[in-house]
Amino acid sequence: MPSTETENEFWSGIPEEKRPRHIAMIMDGNGRWAQERSQPRVKGHQQGAETVRVITEECARLGIEQLTLYCLSSENWKRPELELEFLMHLLTEYLVNERETLNKNNIRLQIIGRRDRIRPEVQAEMDRSIELTSQNTGPTLCLAINYGGRAEIVDAIRSISQRVKDEGLEVDAIDEQMVSEHLYTAGMSDPDLMIRTAGEMRISNYLLWQLSYAELWVTQKYWPEFDTDDLRTAIRDYAKRKRRFGGLNRNEQEPSC
Ligand code: IPE
Ligand code: IPE
Ligand code: MG
Repeated sequence: MPSTETENEFWSGIPEEKRPRHIAMIMDGNGRWAQERSQPRVKGHQQGAETVRVITEECARLGIEQLTLYCLSSENWKRPELELEFLMHLLTEYLVNERETLNKNNIRLQIIGRRDRIRPEVQAEMDRSIELTSQNTGPTLCLAINYGGRAEIVDAIRSISQRVKDEGLEVDAIDEQMVSEHLYTAGMSDPDLMIRTAGEMRISNYLLWQLSYAELWVTQKYWPEFDTDDLRTAIRDYAKRKRRFGGLNRNEQEPSC
């Protein structure tokens, strides 16, 4: 049973600067969840979509500025045709059914990833949801669909190279900020916390550039059973982490001689 602690009670012990603004998630373990229950893998995806609804609403309630969810990787196309069909069906259903809830929660939808392998009807629903939520001023829900971190970097290199060719952009003018501005995530902050369910200790080609200094938090729980208490535990753990970004915290510095 999720706890009854209110949002204010939850945040009361966590100082402002220790609160994650942007949480990224690798929603893994749908297949294993279903198979352990002697059900087809797609049942796990179906249940996983429920978790997406619950966690998105909880993030909005907690005032998390951005939630980025890994829905389909560029490598997931290696999966059986039927599973992919089902995932596309689920995604379309989600996009259509969730518009009202997204608007009710003042959530703006963004989608990152390559569009090329997504069917035009699905792309149309993606665009429609982005458009219908574009005026919302609350949190951002960013779905990574047909997303690959390496593909994203390749696309950024291509668009910057095009500017060198067409606009005479100086090669020396290319810096980290410019690269960030040519990624799919241009304009978004980098994730502070990355949560992965189902126990794997890897990032599976997710947000390779953006996760440079994110705090990683992995749970053994499968995505369909991940709940609001797990999310709150992850945020509490995050608040205890010492982020150094390569430097030292004030209390770690030795007195200068
Ligand atoms: C994550 O669950 C969802 C997607 C990758 C689309 P999986 O389908 O990878 O589940 P496991 O890892 O096989 O259990
Ligand atoms: C990562 O999970 C992709 C998504 C959750 C969409 P995978 O199940 O594809 O990752 P690997 O294959 O175990 O690394
Ligand atoms: Mg998996």
